[in-house]
Amino acid sequence: MNFKKNILCIGAGYVGGPTMAMIAHKCPQYKVTVVDINPVRIAEWNSDHLPIFEPGLDEIVKNIRGRNLFFSTEIEKGIQEANIIFVSVNTPTKTFGAGNGMAADLQYWEKTARQILKSAKSSKIIIEKSTLPVKTAQAMERILTHNHQKIHFDVLSNPEFLAEGTAIRDLENPDRVLIGSHQTPDGIKARDELVEIYANWIPPKNIITSDIWSSELSKLVSNAFLAQRISSINTISALCEKTDANVTDVARAVGMDHRIGNRFLNASVGFGGSCFKKDILNLVYLCRNYGLHEVADYWQGVVNINEYQKERFVLNMLAAMFNTLAGKRICLFGFAFKADTGDTRESPAFFIANRLIEEKVELVITDPKALKNAKNDLDEFKEEVSFVEDPYKAASGCHAIAILTEWVLYQNLDFEKIYRSMLKPAFIFDGRNIIDHQKVFEIGFNVYPVGKPSLTHF
Ligand SMILES: NC(=O)c1ccc[n+]([C@@H]2O[C@H](COP(=O)([O-])OP(=O)(O)OC[C@H]3O[C@@H](n4cnc5c(N)ncnc54)[C@H](O)[C@@H]3O)[C@@H](O)[C@H]2O)c1
Repeated sequence: MNFKKNILCIGAGYVGGPTMAMIAHKCPQYKVTVVDINPVRIAEWNSDHLPIFEPGLDEIVKNIRGRNLFFSTEIEKGIQEANIIFVSVNTPTKTFGAGNGMAADLQYWEKTARQILKSAKSSKIIIEKSTLPVKTAQAMERILTHNHQKIHFDVLSNPEFLAEGTAIRDLENPDRVLIGSHQTPDGIKARDELVEIYANWIPPKNIITSDIWSSELSKLVSNAFLAQRISSINTISALCEKTDANVTDVARAVGMDHRIGNRFLNASVGFGGSCFKKDILNLVYLCRNYGLHEVADYWQGVVNINEYQKERFVLNMLAAMFNTLAGKRICLFGFAFKADTGDTRESPAFFIANRLIEEKVELVITDPKALKNAKNDLDEFKEEVSFVEDPYKAASGCHAIAILTEWVLYQNLDFEKIYRSMLKPAFIFDGRNIIDHQKVFEIGFNVYPVGKPSLTHF
């Protein structure tokens, strides 16, 4: 079959896989290939067990894989065949040298640029899908234009705003698609070619354009604002716990002001995921570089509150359980950083598990989708941690349960049965405020929500 466009994506991760699946699904006239240096990941994309869990993804991939969606390790061949290349490689926080712990580690990104330069035999549009700070498109352009073959590359920024757990819905109906380009005739031509792809299913009013740097920066700022809301309500949860106010009631009253809105106002054990912390730290690093220390401190505060909230949760557990956790058996309900994903990167559960292990707790971890990642994350603690898929079996014989991921299944458990199987006094620490606190209190539990009065039998 003759395809109208040949699209390549380098990086078959949480972003590359679902975004390309959506383009291929909506545009049968295009051939979409996703490549990765990790052969295991590619083999999983080609199997019945996709490497990531995302509601609705399996159906789409299984329908179009081999038709106009392909997963491969042949990066060079992919580059040569494609007219349009999305780059969606990882951009973690640097763990060495200048900017250690703050700046983005751009080594994967730069390697990709060099690989494109080495393999390309014709002109191409390169689209930065990864979240990248500090005018990275410019750096990529410099690498790419340093070629002797007179090949022309246009670099565009097209940050991805999907949220894990709702990626398919977000890709199908995005609030907006943002495309940053040079405002030159070549830049605008390349931009229009990308607009044409999205216009296959997205209304024109939702496809917005800007210069490249504004586009790159918008992604960092979006994540910073989202995380800021969580940290803001979490600061109030601490105050509510001291004053017997109820953070859910406060959030409801505040959120009903349409200027504020009610989304992202759930107090919890803290935010996680691979993006929020890393992107805010990028923003902080960027501000420091420009000498804007007050601005940097302001955004750093959002991250600091998140660390504080996780630590506060552990200290609340310790205080409630008679100031000693050593030798106690505690079950963590959920290890994913949020519901509907198996992703555990930067999960609050990881921090809490580590802190509880420090307190010499015997941990039992249960999660419907994230146990494989949890086992990898806690590989060094084989003695201290066990992993049990069934939440009833996991909680049996424990002193306490800590709910760390807002899986709906935890709302619908038979807590009477769980209570009967636990050691007494039995505790529940609801780090997501998702269960019926009064009901489990009446069953016999001592209940500790976030940001509201605890319900205890003492
Ligand atoms: N995860 C999210 O929710 C999300 C949302 C929006 C944006 N982003 C951004 O998208 C980017 C990718 O994130 P992700 O979560 O998909 O990461 P990921 O780690 O899941 O996937 C990245 C993939 O790139 C591959 N890779 C690295 N270097 C390569 C190279 N030189 N050639 C080919 N493949 C290479 C890795 O093997 C990996 O499979 C990041 O910049 C992230 O900030 C992520």
